[in-house]
Amino acid sequence: MPALDLDWIRAQFPALAETVNDQPAVFFDGPGGTQVTRGVADAVGNYLLRANANTHGAFLTSQRTDQVIEEAHQAMADLLGCDPDEVIFGANMTTLTFALARSIGREIQPGDEIVLTRLDHDANFAPWQALEERGALIKVADIDVEDCTLDMADMRRLIGPRTKLVAVGYASNAVGTVNDVAEVVRLAKHVGALTFIDAVHYAPHGPIDVRALDCDFLACSPYKFFAPHMGTIYGKREHLERLRPYKVRPAGDAAPDRWETGTKNHEGMAGVTAAVEYLAALGVQHATPGTRRSALVAAMTAIQEYERGLSEQLVAGLLAIPGLTFYGIREPERFQWRTPTVSVRVAGFTPRALAEALGQRGIFAWDGNYYAINLAERLGVQADGGMLRIGLVHYNTTGEIERLLAALREIVG
Ligand SMILES: Cc1ncc(COP(=O)(O)O)c(C=O)c1O
Repeated sequence: MPALDLDWIRAQFPALAETVNDQPAVFFDGPGGTQVTRGVADAVGNYLLRANANTHGAFLTSQRTDQVIEEAHQAMADLLGCDPDEVIFGANMTTLTFALARSIGREIQPGDEIVLTRLDHDANFAPWQALEERGALIKVADIDVEDCTLDMADMRRLIGPRTKLVAVGYASNAVGTVNDVAEVVRLAKHVGALTFIDAVHYAPHGPIDVRALDCDFLACSPYKFFAPHMGTIYGKREHLERLRPYKVRPAGDAAPDRWETGTKNHEGMAGVTAAVEYLAALGVQHATPGTRRSALVAAMTAIQEYERGLSEQLVAGLLAIPGLTFYGIREPERFQWRTPTVSVRVAGFTPRALAEALGQRGIFAWDGNYYAINLAERLGVQADGGMLRIGLVHYNTTGEIERLLAALREIVG
């Protein structure tokens, strides 16, 4: 299969033409939200100009709106490998997860245990921790600080007969570690616990198959994979039907309606479909003709392979910078267990100072804890500005990595 067609890909993203001080902008801020394609922006605009209405009316724009909503569920279903009625849309992953946790909380008994991890974004921690109000006991699996991987022995020890739910990230938005989520699901199932996977960071970096994983819930946020600012959660139909969401009475009582409380972000949903269409169009360049699902799997597999090469160049280059501390997996032979998201510190510089110096050179990178606050505390960097995060996606190039490395070398002297 051919390598990614970067010229075609980059032409789809008008924002990549941005400049800063006459230099092309480099978007290494993807883990905080990616850029969108022209098709996504057009879909949002078209919805607002031609279909703007509420749902289930007896007139044209409302009928178009119903269709936009149906198409967005189908698009997400194709991306995740599930049925359209198993996808819930909402404001963002955090809000959806708080709502789901509150509903799951109705089934929690005092003494029930919930297993979380120190590696996760707080959106996959605080909503579950809040169930302490219902008497739940929170257990937190540790990490190996040497390479920022999940301590699976600790995970095995913590998952037991009283475990009701295990919430784990597919990949860390801070240090890029990809967790063995299939193994976590297996361990949880063995004791009859529910599994919730936060795939928000992972989603733009590789294929997802919720049926193969056999997880109960999986969250991802479209704005991290080239779509507008929204969140989604996949839930197995049996749970979406059995659990009782907090909802208004006149709203539909079938899934997914009962979970999508209030008026939805219709224009955002139009954008989500367009983002999935973009990925499918990319996938067609890497697969024999088939379904949209097979094109999406081909796209995400090709992206994964391309990004692995980016990781190799990026990590090798960073490790050669004097005074740099690298957090996470660094050996290329283990790069199937990381995304091209890396966090570093450089002696003598705060992460903010580095991000500012890069920003002036047109290189966009985040600093801080990126809400992975337990991890920042565990690594001992929370009180001192966190880390500098370089986060790549498939529209980034080897040339951009060279620019970053040259800029860092110049900044640190
Ligand atoms: C891994 C991970 N989980 C959850 C979230 C929260 O997602 P949202 O902004 O949609 O609430 C983020 C956002 O940065 C994230 O990176």
